[in-house]
Amino acid sequence: MTPPGQVRHLLSLDDLEPAQFHALLDSAEQFLKTGRPLVGPLQGRIVASIFFEPSTRTRVSFEIAARRLGADLVNLDVMCSSRKKGEADRDTLSTLAAMGASIFILRTGVAGLPAELAGHLAPDCGLISAGEAEFAHPTQGLLDMLTIRQHKPDTDKLRVAIVGDIAHSRVARSAVRGLRLMGISDIRLIGPESFLPDDGEMPGTFQGNDLASGIDGADVVMALRIQRERMKLAEMPESADYFQRFGLTEKKLAALAPDAIVMHPGPINRGIELDDEVADGPRSVIREQVRNGVAVRMAVLTTVANSLAESDRAGRA
Ligand code: CP
Repeated sequence: MTPPGQVRHLLSLDDLEPAQFHALLDSAEQFLKTGRPLVGPLQGRIVASIFFEPSTRTRVSFEIAARRLGADLVNLDVMCSSRKKGEADRDTLSTLAAMGASIFILRTGVAGLPAELAGHLAPDCGLISAGEAEFAHPTQGLLDMLTIRQHKPDTDKLRVAIVGDIAHSRVARSAVRGLRLMGISDIRLIGPESFLPDDGEMPGTFQGNDLASGIDGADVVMALRIQRERMKLAEMPESADYFQRFGLTEKKLAALAPDAIVMHPGPINRGIELDDEVADGPRSVIREQVRNGVAVRMAVLTTVANSLAESDRAGRA
């Protein structure tokens, strides 16, 4: 049983109370200031990183974060693991746990798998989602909110537009939850009809197909990658048409608030979701998002490690 206020597993931002969410952002900000701690809070822990879907940013930043905190890191090469011989995922995790791994970082395209595997773990192990199908990407949500908070500390009046493939995006779902935790209510979801969420899934958001009116006066615009891997062929838009209607260009962004920022979780498809001038321009905070990812993952790993240590102490008391 995880003691109240502790975070043993982080599967979705829905798991976090507002105080825990803000404490993680504060902790990440602290790591940005101080860098590597002198005594690693993960010294002696083994962290196992298991990615069933491709990744550059999330996988590498978790790896850097774990090493900076003093952990020993195991990156399971899933293409060469015994999973290829039919081993069940829960057995793979319990095998790694038997070797001493106690924190698991998991990316999967299978909805529900993080919760299922977390449910099979022993009490001295925790699991952090590094992206679950189209449903949750909690550390991306945290790093996006940290980036917004750094640029726009007065968050409650912010107007935020999320543009593109919202329906298939775990980034968008975690962002909407994070924006709400930050008290932001003007959330606009803009994209082609087939890319908007189902009716009722994100109540309280404005949803529309017109980019110009959707981003008018926005302080933050978050462009999303088109998730072709989650679509049937017939659903895929033609790239040139999409860019013409929803691709971000400096000309289209003239409608934003004067000091607006432009975000993208990466990887970027240049010339489809946004052009070079926007991606590399003065409003872009895309590199800052990536940098913040390391600090956020240090904060999450530390919190989970502290929760495991706390429940271990409680169990022995
Ligand atoms: N934003 C994100 O999750 O990027 P990766 O797929 O490269 O990890």
